[in-house]
Formats: sequence, C-alpha cells, structure tokens
Amino acid sequence: MMIRMSATLIDRPTSGATEDELATQLRDVRTRTHRLTEDLSTRQLMGPMLPIVNPVLWEIGHVGWFHEYWTLRHAHGEAPGLDRADVLWNSSTVAHATRWDLNLPDRNGVFAYMADVLGRQVGRLSGGVDAGTRYFYELSIRHEDMHVEALAYTRQTLGYARPDGLGHPADHNAGPWPGDASVSGGRWRLGSTGADGFIFDNEKWAHEVGIAPFRIAKAPVTNAEFAAFVRAGGYRNRQFWSAAGWAWRESTGAERPVYWLETDGSYGTWRRYQEVEPLAPHAPVMFVNWYEAEAWCRWAKRRLPTEAEWEAAALGEAAANGSCLADSKRRWPWGETSPSSQHANLDFAFDGPLDVAACAAGDSAFGCRQMIGNVWEWTASDFVPLPGFAADPYEDYSRPWFNTRKVLRGGSWATSARIARPGYRNFFTPERNDVIAGFRTCAL
Ligand SMILES: [Fe+2]
Repeated sequence: MMIRMSATLIDRPTSGATEDELATQLRDVRTRTHRLTEDLSTRQLMGPMLPIVNPVLWEIGHVGWFHEYWTLRHAHGEAPGLDRADVLWNSSTVAHATRWDLNLPDRNGVFAYMADVLGRQVGRLSGGVDAGTRYFYELSIRHEDMHVEALAYTRQTLGYARPDGLGHPADHNAGPWPGDASVSGGRWRLGSTGADGFIFDNEKWAHEVGIAPFRIAKAPVTNAEFAAFVRAGGYRNRQFWSAAGWAWRESTGAERPVYWLETDGSYGTWRRYQEVEPLAPHAPVMFVNWYEAEAWCRWAKRRLPTEAEWEAAALGEAAANGSCLADSKRRWPWGETSPSSQHANLDFAFDGPLDVAACAAGDSAFGCRQMIGNVWEWTASDFVPLPGFAADPYEDYSRPWFNTRKVLRGGSWATSARIARPGYRNFFTPERNDVIAGFRTCAL
C-alpha cells in the first residue's frame, strides 16, 4: 500500500492546495458557471444541435457528474446521488448528437444536483483528504474551468447576451507591439515535471529536444494585421492555403474571420455576443482557425512556431555567454510569481482581449509579451503523445484525440490561471474557429 501510494504521488503530482483552498476553488469556479448560465431561458439552455456546442443544460449537469464520479464515487467510494447520472452525463458513453434527446432533469433539478454534489465535496474536504484523493479534486476543478471557457465561447457561437458579472471592460489604449524577439537555439526540455504541480497526462514527461535559433513575434497577430490579409484578397487566393485549408474555405465560403462584419470593404466591426461592436485594431485576432493562421503566415512569409519553440520563447533564458539556451526553465514567462492582471489577461479579469502591448510586466526573458492569456495561440505542432505517455485515470482526456488535433498554448482571457500554465497543451481540430484562439508567428 505504501509503495502504491508513493508511486501515485510521483505519477500524479498535485498543486499543493490545501483542503480549504480546494473548497474555495470549487465555490469560485461554480460562481462562474452560474454567471454563464443562470440568465439563459429554458430554450437557450437547450439551444440548436451543432457539432461544436453542447446543450448548456446537459453541459452543466455533466460538470456536476464529473465532480461526483471522480471525487465522491471514485476517490471516496460513495454511491451515486442520482440513479440515472451515468446514462445522462458520462461524456465517454453519451454520444454528442444524442445529448439533445435525453430525458434531462429541468433547470432546477440540474442545479440542485450540482449543489448537492458540491455540498458533499465540501463536507469531505472539511474532514481532511489525502494527497492521492486531492488529485481528483484538482482534476474535477480544472474540468469545470474548461467547461466555463467553453460556456463563454458557446454564448458567442450562439449569439446569446454578454454574461453579467464576468470581468471589467477591456480598454484598448495600449496599442500595437510590433517586431521580433531573437531566441537562442540549443537543448530544450519540452513537457512538464512533477515540480510543476498538477499536470495532465499529455504533458508527461519533460524530455530533451533540439531547437535551432529562431525569431518570433513579440506579440500575437492583431486584427489590423489580419485585416491586411483579408483586404489583399487572402481568402480568395488559393496559393496561400494548404489543400486541407482550401477545402475548408471552399466548403464554408469563408471570406473573413467568422464574426467580422464587412462594410464597404472595411472591417471595423464584429459580432460580439449579440451586439455589433468596434473591432479593436491592436487587439489580437480571435476566433480564427488553424487553416486561417496557416494562410496568413504564407501570405506574410512567416510561419507558426512549434510547441517546443513556443515554450522556449516563453520560459527559456539565454546562457551567460548568450550563444544558446540556458538549462533553466521559468515557471511563468516573467518568473516565479503567480499571475496578476499586470502579467496576463486571465480568469475573466477583463471581459475580452486587451491590446497586444498590454501586460508588459508579463514579458518573457526574450521579450515576448502575452505568451500567457488574452488568446490561445495555435502552434504548428500536431497533438501527439510525448515519449513514454501513459493515460491517467480519466483515460479519455487525451488519448482518443492524438494525431487529429493541433496544439494551442497559453490560455485566453476566459481561461483560469490553473489551466493556463505554460506547460498546458490545449488541442483542437484545425477547422475550429469558435474557440478563443489567435496565433503568433516566427520569421522564416
Ligand atoms: Fe467534460
């Protein structure tokens, strides 16, 4: 038993959060879930059947079920609180297209189920839990974090109202931040270690890769920079697109980023939730897919960074003689301190993206800004397992999706700081333009 437990702690490290801190995290993320859902009508809680969204009523019940399944049932051995819960909300077995046809409890029933699970979790935590069990609390809190972000972009996808009480308005006074940073080449340890606290299976484990010296933009591509490509006819010019990218463009008829509105050949506005708003020229372009990022790069004679390059630009430092990467790897781009809104636009500090020159305190050693927060950044890399990958207990988190997705790094304004660690590997299929993603580029 002692041997098994210590092996578990090595394989599945935790953040070190105490039981009280975990209870606070559970309540805080639930507040966000409520703010993103409780104003919706019964009709909006179900919404249209689309492959890229879940019915909101199903999604929040699934969040409650995930907490119950992994903490109360798996870790504590409790019986299910609702007989039908697995049949309704196990995302591994309930096919996506069937989620609109289930006999779900009504709004009050779903919220009551979630509140019951939360109450039982807080009760367990107040009695003290061991580190092996805390892992499952950390997992289920991060799972709710991910669904909170999904609920934010679902409201954008479906044109629902801007949610109340989430973030201060984002001002746009900081402006552009043009130019490249030079990053030394050398050996880099790609991936995470036990010292990084709670990590997901797809980050395991850090291993050495070689990187050639490269130049990477100090900031993500802005709306103004992307608009130049659109005005130049980029969406109609086959030469800028890969075969798969052109097939996506042809099948959708895309002429510009999905929410942009065109007036007399200019792109000054976009649909934000259910309103038409000015498009901030120096904010990062958002809601573009991997194919659009790839096409912009070909037009601009640039390229996307690999995820190893992205990590080195974010966390690396030059060796003392300046000729190669040092052995060091920072915890955050700016150093060791936890993120604040001076470093990174995370955790709904603002209700949208800031200009790319904002958050100067968050610059990396090489001078890259906003590597964390504001928008997820598409990388050139396919989502593949790192050497020695083994699935963690939530087996369907990574393994089913390898080799079909592209990796994104860094987190968006709607991502929790728990998820937006620099080592976190997000992954989506390359046609997804509904997620809060942009990109930064490297010189060829
Ligand atoms: Fe989920």
